[in-house]
Amino acid sequence: MRMILLGPPGAGKGTQAAVLSATLKIPHISTGDIFRANIKGGTPLGLLAKSYIDSGKLVPDDVTVDIVANRLKEEDCASGFIMDGFPRTVPQAVMFDEMLAKPGKKVEVVINITVEDSIIVKRLSGRRMCSCGRTYHIDNNPPKVEEICDFCNSSLYIRDDDKEETIKERLKTYHEQTSPLVDYYQEKGLIMNFDGSKPIDVTTREILDSLKNKLIDFED
Ligand code: AP5
Repeated sequence: MRMILLGPPGAGKGTQAAVLSATLKIPHISTGDIFRANIKGGTPLGLLAKSYIDSGKLVPDDVTVDIVANRLKEEDCASGFIMDGFPRTVPQAVMFDEMLAKPGKKVEVVINITVEDSIIVKRLSGRRMCSCGRTYHIDNNPPKVEEICDFCNSSLYIRDDDKEETIKERLKTYHEQTSPLVDYYQEKGLIMNFDGSKPIDVTTREILDSLKNKLIDFED
């Protein structure tokens, strides 16, 4: 299945992608995670991306599309993927459609998770991350042992762009550049809308039930 997760920062895309990836047995591809791994590794891409990410702006489209094109060449993407945070502009979506069309493929489902801005600032300031990709929240989704990942026992960290001022800038960027994608995919009949302000497990259940109703076959 070729799926996109759409939604504002903090909507729960990464949280839902981790569960969906395990259930549907397709890789979770987060452009944000790829950029953060490059920042950590001190690569030229990381240096470039950091200047945009720290100010809440988007990394240029051509750079981001190239990264996705390379990632999709890996073997684990043969039976599909869950895109988290990509595409994020209409030009990225157009280039993505063209990229998939070359081998005769296309996006099949777009999960749009909506949450009001007022909830997002609170959510992101309580977020804790693990380098293995798991995401926690100090109140809504705490690890079993404080500040330690349940899955790999690493210490959790706070993202540099989870400061209040940067969060507000990221929300502005989302409304200006990413939200037009809802209409873009609506016109293609691909959008499925979910209320991301419900508890995490309720949203997961609603997404899985909707996928089943769409006659998408998987073992739950
Ligand atoms: P990216 O890493 O993609 O960040 P984002 O889109 O801003 O989204 P987040 O990761 O902040 O939120 P999320 O929706 O995944 O929420 P999460 O599940 O963590 O991008 C970072 C930056 O990289 C961008 O700003 C940009 O600069 C650059 N970038 C990335 N992709 C790009 C692209 N395609 N083009 C250009 N630039 C790009 O949940 C948030 C918190 O809430 C967690 O603590 C979680 O535990 C909690 N939570 C989740 N769901 C619930 C719930 N239902 N109830 C209560 N709490 C919840």
